[in-house]
Amino acid sequence: MQPIRILFSSISGNTRGFIQKLSTYANDQQAINPSAPLIEAVEISDLTNFTDETTPFFVCVPTYLSGGNGIDNGVKELMTNTLGEYITYNRNAQLVQGIIGSGNRNFNEQYVLTARRYAHATNTAVVADYELRGTSQDVERIYSILTKLA
Ligand SMILES: Cc1cc2nc3c(=O)[nH]c(=O)nc-3n(C[C@H](O)[C@H](O)[C@H](O)COP(=O)(O)O)c2cc1C
Repeated sequence: MQPIRILFSSISGNTRGFIQKLSTYANDQQAINPSAPLIEAVEISDLTNFTDETTPFFVCVPTYLSGGNGIDNGVKELMTNTLGEYITYNRNAQLVQGIIGSGNRNFNEQYVLTARRYAHATNTAVVADYELRGTSQDVERIYSILTKLA
């Protein structure tokens, strides 16, 4: 099976940590069952050269917003803008399989709002969400979702 490709950004390291746990879990799963897909993850940052994606991919994005008090109410995306630009670069959005959102439920209505905005912008869906670095249950749950959708 093809690896599950995930493009992600991480500012304070939580998303990077989650993706590492997800990759390790996928490796362990494949050791048990050779048809279980691996994770192919690519971090998108301000240093990334924009390229045309050639295979389908998921997007994992943390939430950094200022202003507003709910959806589309003057809210401004911070820190993750490069990832947003990358996934809508040329025809890349056509290859998006779904968005995984990370955030913190303390932000109430704005919980994983960047993921919801990306889903809207790419005409896809938020396929999973988790808080902060994610628990081991989140890793298992999200790997299972991704393998079904990939
Ligand atoms: C300045 C700031 C603003 C944030 N705004 C939101 C928000 O609007 N909604 C949300 O769900 N989480 C919000 N968060 C929580 C982050 O999305 C969360 O900590 C995430 O795990 C950070 O991922 P990273 O460490 O990979 O950058 C915010 C965090 C910071 C520091």
